Amino acid sequence: MAELSTLLVTEQDGIAKIVINRPDKLNALNRTVIDELSQAVSGLSKAGGPRAVILTGSGQRAFVAGADIAEMSTMTPAQAKSFADAGHGLCRLIEEAPCPVIAAVHGFALGGGCELALACDFIYASEKARFGQPEVALGLMPGFGGTQRLSRRVGPGRARELIYTGDQVTAAEALAMGLVNAVLPPAELDERVLVVAGKIAQKAPLAVGASKRAILRGIEVDLVAGCELEAQAFSALFGSEDQKEGTKAFLEKRTPAFQGR
Ligand code: COA
Repeated sequence: MAELSTLLVTEQDGIAKIVINRPDKLNALNRTVIDELSQAVSGLSKAGGPRAVILTGSGQRAFVAGADIAEMSTMTPAQAKSFADAGHGLCRLIEEAPCPVIAAVHGFALGGGCELALACDFIYASEKARFGQPEVALGLMPGFGGTQRLSRRVGPGRARELIYTGDQVTAAEALAMGLVNAVLPPAELDERVLVVAGKIAQKAPLAVGASKRAILRGIEVDLVAGCELEAQAFSALFGSEDQKEGTKAFLEKRTPAFQGR
């Protein structure tokens, strides 16, 4: 991977960790961060890529405190469209990544930071995390999918309230509304996310990836079409070596060795 100036990317035991590394600006998303994240996430599709990804921010103050307000302050409508397109492109790349992407949120996940976390498969948060879509306080609105993914995640009523007021919610409130899957003490968050990513990495990667795609596509269609989509994906797995290995290993009472084929 080419040198990245705003990210720290590591990989161990099939788990990639991407750290957004602009702590002095609370990891705000400028164009460089968005482009580098897009590059890093695109790289996950290569053969032999990781089986799970953890996306987080540098330090404990912020996951991402939003799109970069300084950079946005002078944008023309055309430049803002290009910026929004880049943010949407990044979120779509995360959703379409072949393996799950887990957001580990310490501190603020505001505006584009909340939207970025929402594009991940699910979110684990520190007790000190804060979520919100404060754009209307700046004369803006969510531009990286917040009006769409937040309402799909927590329902339109709560999404409207969060977006119209710009209020921040605590991690506990975010848990109660289904925005996050779990809330952990700050010192335990990274370890717990690693454990969850490790469990995923042990499973058959094609099966996990097919499940991810079926859930993503199924959200967009009616139940009958979604179930048909699932049946297609389910049956396709029977052409994989991992399906043979997984079922055979069960019958032989041993641990399967999945190859991602
Ligand atoms: N874009 C650009 N810079 C940002 C930023 C953003 N979204 N959020 C924080 N920063 C910068 C601050 O300008 C400051 O930089 P400086 O030290 O060079 O002045 C630095 O990060 C630290 O932020 P600061 O505001 O001093 O920290 P705080 O603890 O007092 O407040 C927040 C934290 C998150 C409440 C506050 O930074 C904030 O409201 N940020 C903007 C949130 C937002 O509206 N996001 C949506 C954008 S569309």
